[in-house]
Amino acid sequence: METLLEISEDELADFVQIADNLYGLDFSGYAQESLRRRVLRLMKIRACDSFATFKYVLANHSLTNDELLNEITVNTTEMFRDFEVFKFLKDQVFEVLETYPRINIWHAGCSTGEEPISLAILLKEQGLLKRSVQYCTDINSEVLEMAKKGIYGLKEIKEYSTNYINSGGASSLSDYYVAHYGKVKMNNDLSKNMVFTKHNLVNGTSFNQMHMIMCRNVFIYLTKEQQDRTLRLFLDSLTPRGYLVLGIKESAMFSPVLNELEIINGKLRIYRKKR
Ligand SMILES: C[S@@+](CC[C@H](N)C(=O)[O-])C[C@H]1O[C@@H](n2cnc3c(N)ncnc32)[C@H](O)[C@@H]1O
Repeated sequence: METLLEISEDELADFVQIADNLYGLDFSGYAQESLRRRVLRLMKIRACDSFATFKYVLANHSLTNDELLNEITVNTTEMFRDFEVFKFLKDQVFEVLETYPRINIWHAGCSTGEEPISLAILLKEQGLLKRSVQYCTDINSEVLEMAKKGIYGLKEIKEYSTNYINSGGASSLSDYYVAHYGKVKMNNDLSKNMVFTKHNLVNGTSFNQMHMIMCRNVFIYLTKEQQDRTLRLFLDSLTPRGYLVLGIKESAMFSPVLNELEIINGKLRIYRKKR
């Protein structure tokens, strides 16, 4: 009979401490229930029948930093995720970006790269890709390596076709990749002006002169204080009148930087730096 794995609140707190002390990973702001589920899942994968055994595994560094990070954070992403956001950018924001000779865009927490690729496709269709530079950052170097490769599953990409059309895509998504044995390789021109860098929003420095920052579905990992610090970092990185796009379940509403932002579309969490 399979034993039911459990961990107490104290053990969960113990895990957070060990991750911080031994791996330099700060999970203290993570939602407790999802953290508990992820830790239990990892214990099962590592065949640990108790927290004590798992602690031993952690203490002996049987996992690398990236393995621990991968298991605990969720890297789920998709192309043209929340297509209304992409449609709004295409219909209302691109005409402003078009006025800049060089367009700097930062994708903070880009995961495996589906978001930057989606934006690159729409920028290309608008004739803006060649003068855009997309800075793609994430805390996790493994997902960044995957983003760099631009290889995705054929089955998934077929599911993204509807999102692409709903985002206002002018062509067919299949024009942007080559399929081979159940995988697709995105066309190289899409990522030619992408720069991939490991960057932790919790303690990282700001970037310069960004015209738009997209940071979607990352705040879930951060405490309120870390979110506020990150928003400050974004304000410092944006040009005057630069755009900030958060995830549609996230918000800058209760942050100290709110008075420095204009709300462009509250529902889609699209903001603009006032000056
Ligand atoms: C759920 S994915 C979101 C991907 C994409 N932005 C989207 O909305 O589809 C969250 C990503 O945030 C990254 N992340 C988590 N904490 C981070 C931090 N402190 N700094 C930078 N990236 C972080 C994770 O590694 C993960 O790849």
